[in-house]
Amino acid sequence: MTPLVDGFGRVHTDLRISLTDKCNLRCTYCMPAEGLDWIPSPELLSDDEIVRVAGIGVERLGITHIRLTGGEPLLRRGLVDLVGRLAALSPRPQLAMTTNGIGLARMAQPLRDAGLDRVNVSLDTLNRATFAGLARRDRLQDVLDGLAAAHAAGLTPVKVNAVLMRGVNDADAPELLDFCLAAGYELRFIEQMPLDAQHGWDRKVMVTAEEIIERLTTSHRLTPLAGRGSAPAETYLVDDGPAKVGIIASVSKPFCGSCDRVRITADGQLRNCLFAREESDLRAPLRNGAGDSEIAVRWQAAIAGKRAGHGIDDPTFLQPDRPMSAIGG
Ligand code: 5AD
Ligand code: SF4
Repeated sequence: MTPLVDGFGRVHTDLRISLTDKCNLRCTYCMPAEGLDWIPSPELLSDDEIVRVAGIGVERLGITHIRLTGGEPLLRRGLVDLVGRLAALSPRPQLAMTTNGIGLARMAQPLRDAGLDRVNVSLDTLNRATFAGLARRDRLQDVLDGLAAAHAAGLTPVKVNAVLMRGVNDADAPELLDFCLAAGYELRFIEQMPLDAQHGWDRKVMVTAEEIIERLTTSHRLTPLAGRGSAPAETYLVDDGPAKVGIIASVSKPFCGSCDRVRITADGQLRNCLFAREESDLRAPLRNGAGDSEIAVRWQAAIAGKRAGHGIDDPTFLQPDRPMSAIGG
């Protein structure tokens, strides 16, 4: 086993695999209303190809955690079987999924039975009209049902990801926290990043981690827990615990220095960062008869070239060519 180490000594153990770039929502911070030009299906990695690269990661490169992302991963046909095959890899990786929750009401138990360990569900507001405006679909209830099913199925701790936008849902933060505390979900707020397809992100209007904390402390006592390690969330005890809330200051306090993540897009391109300007094609070698060791070497080379950080605050920063939905969260 040769770990995936980059030029800064960061060891990569967390693999995020995007299963599709399609989504049944159109969140404004991610996609334009009309959707995007989806990746043509022959270009998507097949289940066999996904299991093969994941196997190379787990067996040869020290990957210990796999997260399934999208687009919306629940839209992938045959998902339960795929999860079962990933859970059968040895050594068995921890399996998580980031989802918008639509369809989870039906899928949570089968996914759990197949070996999924945990889910993160995106939920930015509890107000139906705000949800419908923000996600451009009136599906709040489906998400709430999905969350409840995930919790009941033991996909725990169920984490909720919320992105706040000024004047849209920033006032909803305390209500979201109360809801998650009551239901037993771990809420994390994520600073909005420049990953929207429309390139409409503006640092000046972004709701910062600091503001989020200020807002929450009007109704709750937050006590910072020491040391975030490689976990991007700064965690706070709420009202002396045991409940917690996380704040992911991806922009104002980047955690790039301890990043342990590597991503594979739905069309088989390895990205060493959300904000990478280059990708390494794994699909071609997978389809051209390359051996496992050749693919492992490519993967290592891609990690070796990883940059120190995202540089969102640099004047020379360029948003990635692909939006979040095509990269995977
Ligand atoms: N900035 C921050 N978070 C985002 N997400 C999607 N787009 C953005 C963005 N531009 C979140 C989703 C989901 C996870 C994959 O990332 O809400 O929870
Ligand atoms: Fe879909 Fe997630 Fe993008 Fe919203 S953020 S449109 S749920 S992929």
